[in-house]
Amino acid sequence: MAKAVAPPLYLASWSYLIFCALFCFNLQVVLSKSAPLLKLDSNILQESIVESINNNSKAGWKASINDRFLNYTVSQFKHLLGVKPTPPGDLQSIPVKIHSERLKLPSHFDARTAWPKCSSIGNILDQGHCGSCWAFAAVESLSDRFCIQFDMNISLSVNDLLSCCGILCGFGCNGGYPIAAWRYFKRSGVVTEECDPYFDQTGCSHPGCEPGYPTPKCKRQCVGGNVLWKKSKHFSVSAYKVHHDPSNIMTEVYKNGPVEVSFTVYEDFAYYKSGVYKHITGAQMGGHAVKLIGWGTTDEGEDYWLLANQWNRSWGDDGYFKIRRGTNECGIEKSVVAGLPSSKNMVQEVSNVDDAFLDASA
Ligand SMILES: *[C@@H]1O[C@H](CO)[C@@H](O)[C@H](O)[C@H]1NC(C)=O
Ligand SMILES: *[C@@H]1O[C@H](CO)[C@@H](O)[C@H](O)[C@H]1NC(C)=O
Ligand SMILES: *[C@@H]1O[C@H](CO)[C@@H](O)[C@H](O)[C@H]1NC(C)=O
Ligand SMILES: *[C@@H]1O[C@H](CO)[C@@H](O)[C@H](O)[C@H]1NC(C)=O
Repeated sequence: MAKAVAPPLYLASWSYLIFCALFCFNLQVVLSKSAPLLKLDSNILQESIVESINNNSKAGWKASINDRFLNYTVSQFKHLLGVKPTPPGDLQSIPVKIHSERLKLPSHFDARTAWPKCSSIGNILDQGHCGSCWAFAAVESLSDRFCIQFDMNISLSVNDLLSCCGILCGFGCNGGYPIAAWRYFKRSGVVTEECDPYFDQTGCSHPGCEPGYPTPKCKRQCVGGNVLWKKSKHFSVSAYKVHHDPSNIMTEVYKNGPVEVSFTVYEDFAYYKSGVYKHITGAQMGGHAVKLIGWGTTDEGEDYWLLANQWNRSWGDDGYFKIRRGTNECGIEKSVVAGLPSSKNMVQEVSNVDDAFLDASA
C-alpha cells in the first residue's frame, strides 16, 4: 500500500489510475479518520482538565476556564504559539552573554517596581489571532529597555517587525525566530506603535484573523503621516542569547531589564490561573515567546520566574504567570534572548537641542 501512495512516475499508467480509483480514496478515508482532525476542531478548554489539575495537590498552580480562550479550538490555540526553531545556519553566529561579575542578587525581583517610572513594563498586550508572540516579547522588552536606559516612555511597533522583517524573521503571523527579531532592531530599527499600530481596520481588529491568518503588509509609512518612518526608528546595538544559568539570566534582567524567553507550551498552560506553573498534563502544542520581568520564591519554598504574557488580562493571573525556576521548566531557561537599546536616532534629537541652544546664544 505504501507504494501506491507515492508511486514512481512510470507507474502512473492506466492500471495505476484504475487501481487508485478503487483504493486510494479508501486509503484517504482511513487516514483522515486516524489523523487528529477532530481533536484540532475541538475546544481547547475542557472542564474535566480544570478539575484534575485543581485536585492535584502537588501541582502548585490553579487552573480555570480562561475567558480569553472560551471559544478557541485546539488549532486556533496552536496558531498563537509562533516560535519556530532558529535555522541551524543562524545559530552559530549568535553571541552568548555571560555575566562574570558576582552581583548580590535580591531573592525577589520585579522589574515593575524596580523601574516604577517605566509603565510599559507592566503593560499586558494581546496578540489577537496572529502567531506573533516572537515579535511581541521582543518589542515589549526593547521598549522597556529604552525606558530603563534613557528614562523615556515609549511603545515600539510590533507591526513594523512582524510585517517588514520578512523571511529573515520567519513567517510573520505563522511564527518566527526570536533572535532574528533582535537582529532586525540592530539592522533596521523599529518605529513606534504610534507610527505603525498593531490594531487594523479589518475583521477582528488584530492581524491574523481567519480565514487565512494573513500577515499585515509592510508599508514603511507612519499612519496619519505626521511622523516620518525613518525618524521614528529606534535601534538596538546588540542581539544576543543569554547563557542559561539561572543566576546569569537574573543578572541580565537586574542590570538591563526584561528579556524575551521561549518555551514549550503544553495543553495545560491554556488553563493557567495562578501559582507556579509546571507541566502536568496534556500534549505538546507548540513554542511560545513571552517577556520575563522578575523572579521570587513562594512561601512553600518554590523558586519561580515572573512573566508577562500577551494574551490579554482575561488569561492567567491578570495576564501574568509564574513558572518554576532553576529546572529549565519547558525549556524556558535555554532560549533567553535580548539586546541593548541604541542612542542612534536619539542623538539627532539631542543635537537638534544643541543647535537650538547655539542659535539662542549666538
Ligand atoms: C476532584 O475532587 C472532587 C472532590 O474531592 C471529586 O468529586 C472529583 O471527582 C475529582 N475530580 C477528578 C477529575 O479527579
Ligand atoms: C463564545 O460563543 C458563544 C456561543 O457561540 C457566545 O455566546 C459567546 O459570546 C462567545 N464568547 C466569547 C468570549 O467570544
Ligand atoms: C483585551 O480584551 C478586551 C476584551 O475582549 C478588548 O476590548 C481589548 O481590546 C483587548 N486588549 C488588547 C490590547 O487587544
Ligand atoms: C511614563 O508615564 C507614566 C504615566 O503617564 C509616568 O508616571 C512616568 O513618570 C513616565 N515615565 C517617564 C520615564 O517619563
